Amino acid sequence: MKILITGGAGFIGSNLTERLVQDGHEIIVLDNLLRGNKIDKDTFSKIKFVNGDVRNFDVVNELASGCDVIYHFAAVLGVDVVADNPVETMDVEVIGTRNVVQAAENNGVRKILYASTSGIYGHSAIESALTEEVLVDPRTSYAMAKRYNEIYLASHHEEKGLNAIALRFFNVYGRNQDNRMVVPRFFEQATENKNITVFGSGMQTRDFTYIDDTIEACVRLMDVNGYHIVNIANEAEWNIKRLAEEIKELTNSSSEISFIEAPKKRYDYEVERRVGSSDKLMKLINYKPETTLQNGLKLIYESKYKK
Ligand SMILES: NC(=O)c1ccc[n+]([C@@H]2O[C@H](COP(=O)([O-])OP(=O)(O)OC[C@H]3O[C@@H](n4cnc5c(N)ncnc54)[C@H](O)[C@@H]3O)[C@@H](O)[C@H]2O)c1
Repeated sequence: MKILITGGAGFIGSNLTERLVQDGHEIIVLDNLLRGNKIDKDTFSKIKFVNGDVRNFDVVNELASGCDVIYHFAAVLGVDVVADNPVETMDVEVIGTRNVVQAAENNGVRKILYASTSGIYGHSAIESALTEEVLVDPRTSYAMAKRYNEIYLASHHEEKGLNAIALRFFNVYGRNQDNRMVVPRFFEQATENKNITVFGSGMQTRDFTYIDDTIEACVRLMDVNGYHIVNIANEAEWNIKRLAEEIKELTNSSSEISFIEAPKKRYDYEVERRVGSSDKLMKLINYKPETTLQNGLKLIYESKYKK
């Protein structure tokens, strides 16, 4: 198939690009390299790469020509980056998604897989793992724009039959991730024997999903029609203190774990708890993420840090 990936040079996008090239698809990546290029050389030589902005309709429209599927992953993200750039964050989400939808319609693209976020659940405090039916509580420009786009895609499905899947990723980690995110940041601090800095008490929990599992789900979902919102979660709750301890032990680091107050601008992101249910994913594609955080961290350690 011919597939366009926006944001394909980023963390998740570069892993997806590599996998889809291996599977024999024809890949076009559109990325403005805001976060650099994470696609490896061999894969890069096998794709069409366009350094451009998803906010530019003409570029998106031209690249969508002849495509079967679009993975729309281009976004501005990272807690501090978003807090400092709320307008650009919204623009890339809202204008970018409008362009992708319009280009898909113009060119008869049969499906859009859109990267949404578990951040949409906000402070929705519930006892068990979050299902897609839980009332969402977006509190940041980023999460708000993601929710807006989910509804926008749903309305296009209703009105024009567009097939669209909104992927609610839960803390993806692994190969090619940069230290805007907590797992690589802790690895970097631990391997340099610097303080591992945890915001707050470290008792806040997250559901960490390994990159290969995430990509497997994204690829299998290409075969699902209709409109769906779907969690991609590992269903395991880890607190941040335990994450720091695990990385410290794995790297045999002499770092101290220090607990610092979260900057005010992070407040809306610092939810106490977040764990997702993958039941719907399982129903749709008979697969759910299985790599435990211990194993995922070991894989990162062995491929990147072990001497
Ligand atoms: N990493 C996670 O845990 C996570 C969690 C929830 C949702 N997501 C979503 O998944 C998608 C991929 O995230 P990621 O972790 O790979 O992030 P990333 O920052 O590594 O990748 C995003 C890519 O988008 C590109 N980009 C940004 N603005 C652009 C623009 N205007 N035009 C073209 N390209 C642009 C960047 O250069 C980057 O390569 C994003 O939509 C993100 O919101 C990620």
